[in-house]
Amino acid sequence: MDEVLFRSPRKRGRVAVFLSGRGSNFLALREAVDRGTIDAEIALVLSNKADAPGLLKARESGLDAVFLDPKAFAAREDYDRAVLAEVERRRVDLVCLAGYMKVLTPALCEALRHRAVNIHPALLPSFPGLHVQRKAIDWGVRVSGCTVHFVAAEVDAGPIILQAAVPVLQDDTEETLAARILAEEHRIYPEAVRLYFQGRIEVRGRRVFILGPGA
Ligand code: GAR
Repeated sequence: MDEVLFRSPRKRGRVAVFLSGRGSNFLALREAVDRGTIDAEIALVLSNKADAPGLLKARESGLDAVFLDPKAFAAREDYDRAVLAEVERRRVDLVCLAGYMKVLTPALCEALRHRAVNIHPALLPSFPGLHVQRKAIDWGVRVSGCTVHFVAAEVDAGPIILQAAVPVLQDDTEETLAARILAEEHRIYPEAVRLYFQGRIEVRGRRVFILGPGA
C-alpha cells in the first residue's frame, strides 16, 4: 500500500468557506457547525463577487465575510497571495470551496495542500468543469451525483473524499437533476468536513481512506 501522505488533524477546526453565488452549501456547512455535528467554527467567508447572495447571508449572520475584488489585482497570482493572507491571518485549518467559481493558481493550491476541499456536482472524474448537469443529461448517463475532493493544481482532479450518486431520469432537465444532486451535496459536504476534524481522513497515493471512529 502507498505511504501515508496526509492524515487530517483531530481538533476543533477553523474553517474558511469560499463562494461566488447562492451559498446553499455554505449554509449546509454552517448548520452542521451550529448543530455541533462538525467540530469547527467558520472563521472566514470569502468571495470574489461583491453581491454573492452567500456572502450577504454570511455577513447578516455575523460571520467574518470578506469580498476580495479580482479587478484590484494585476495578476491572478497577486490575487491568490491576498487570498492566502486572509486565510493565514485567521489561522484557518481548512478551506471549503462551495461554488467558488475561480480557478486557484498552482501556488495557492500548493500552499493549501490537504487544507482545501471542493464540492463538484458530478461523479468525478466524469464531467469536470462547468454545466456538468447538462453534460450528464446530454451524454445519456443513468447515474450522476456529487464529489467532495481535495483541491489540487489540476482542476476537479484531487483525491476523492466522498461521493454520492443519484439517478438521472429520462424527463430530467438541468434544473431537476441539479436539485437532486444538490440535496446530496448538502449531506456529504458537512460529512466530509466532520470526518476531517475527527482526524479520520488519510491520503495514500491518490486514494483517501476513511478511518474508523477509534482510529
Ligand atoms: C454547487 O452545485 C456546487 O457543487 C457547484 O456550484 C454550486 C454552488 O451552489 N460547484 C461547482 O460547479 C464547482 N466546479 P451553492 O452556491 O448553492 O453552494
